[in-house]
Amino acid sequence: MFDAVANLHHLCFPHKPWSADDFADLKKSGCDIIASQNGFVVWRLVADEAEIITVGVHPDARRGGIAAAMLTLVENDVKKRGGKKIFLEVAENNRPARVLYERNGFTQIGIRPKYYDGVDAVLMEKKL
Ligand SMILES: CC(C)(COP(=O)(O)OP(=O)(O)OC[C@H]1O[C@@H](n2cnc3c(N)ncnc32)[C@H](O)[C@@H]1OP(=O)(O)O)[C@@H](O)C(=O)NCCC(=O)NCCS
Repeated sequence: MFDAVANLHHLCFPHKPWSADDFADLKKSGCDIIASQNGFVVWRLVADEAEIITVGVHPDARRGGIAAAMLTLVENDVKKRGGKKIFLEVAENNRPARVLYERNGFTQIGIRPKYYDGVDAVLMEKKL
């Protein structure tokens, strides 16, 4: 059931692909998943705080607004269910993702030094 999203994840994160079983486990653990032919996002809402776990768009479909649209869907769902904040972490050197999140209202609230194989993680938040 999660083969297609695992294949897409592999294209987006070739050095750290997640398997279909990984996605099934995320779903079982209470995460929500939106997946289409060209994009996916996984998030979890606990109490009134949500965390975006991963987001990716097919390399051939980027810069078409898919990620921004998926963030809006997540935000609307989180709001509807009483969520007040969304958190995420992004590698400091991942410029496309950092610009995407900044343009969509996320602000930096901290740094986790050397979190991703020696690269800092930037912790971001959006208050809803
Ligand atoms: C980051 C990623 C999800 C963006 O997906 P996308 O569908 O191309 O993003 P959008 O088209 O919705 O972009 C929205 C805005 O984000 C910014 N943005 C997106 N990609 C960008 C890039 N390569 N360089 C600079 N800004 C970028 C732009 O402001 C863009 O608006 P614009 O196109 O009108 O200028 C995609 O590049 C991807 O899958 N990367 C690999 C996986 C990854 O790094 N995921 C995030 C992990 S935290």
